[in-house]
Amino acid sequence: MSDRLTKKSTVATSSIMVFPSDTNDYGTMYGGRLIEMMDMVGGICARRFSSHKAVTASIEDMQFNKPINRGDIIEFTARVIYTGRTSMVIKTKVTREGYDEVKEVCARAYFVFVSMDSKGKPVEVPELMVLTLKEEKNHKIGTEIRKRQALEEKRFEIELKENL
Ligand SMILES: CC(C)(COP(=O)(O)OP(=O)(O)OC[C@H]1O[C@@H](n2cnc3c(N)ncnc32)[C@H](O)[C@@H]1OP(=O)(O)O)[C@@H](O)C(=O)NCCC(=O)NCCS
Repeated sequence: MSDRLTKKSTVATSSIMVFPSDTNDYGTMYGGRLIEMMDMVGGICARRFSSHKAVTASIEDMQFNKPINRGDIIEFTARVIYTGRTSMVIKTKVTREGYDEVKEVCARAYFVFVSMDSKGKPVEVPELMVLTLKEEKNHKIGTEIRKRQALEEKRFEIELKENL
């Protein structure tokens, strides 16, 4: 029997108010700034789950579906939805809230983080416990993403080899 630890999903959240320095000429938020924050909150979530350092290996399916305006409050929520041996898929959602206090999802992405030991080598993470129907659905998404992503990794290796 495997002696690998199992663990319930961990969550990380953070909120900020959008300042002029976060926005473009039109007063809406820069995508790059948003991704930076999503990466940060995802990294906190990955570290909590793995109890190790975690590095971003890839960002999958980044969607910006609603603009974020100067003065909005935005909230980031990251949760582990899938684990490989040393990798974790972290779903990160962003909701915006204007002065009417209505919250709407305006972006989401799946971050793949890899857990690293003190020597900078990938290290095994606990296996994710999948307990609810929602977790099951998210786990299936994570499985599909990792399958697709394995092909992407191979293609990237070829591109590097052939200098494409
Ligand atoms: C991510 C990284 C540690 C993987 O190293 P590696 O030598 O390929 O390690 P391994 O082959 O043992 O793979 C370890 C895990 O990483 C995953 N992985 C490797 N490359 C990946 C990629 N490009 N995208 C997603 N996952 C990847 C593997 O699938 C494997 O997952 P598993 O253990 O759950 O099956 C390495 O590529 C790295 O350090 N990249 C830079 C990370 C970084 O600096 N991020 C900040 C962005 S600036």
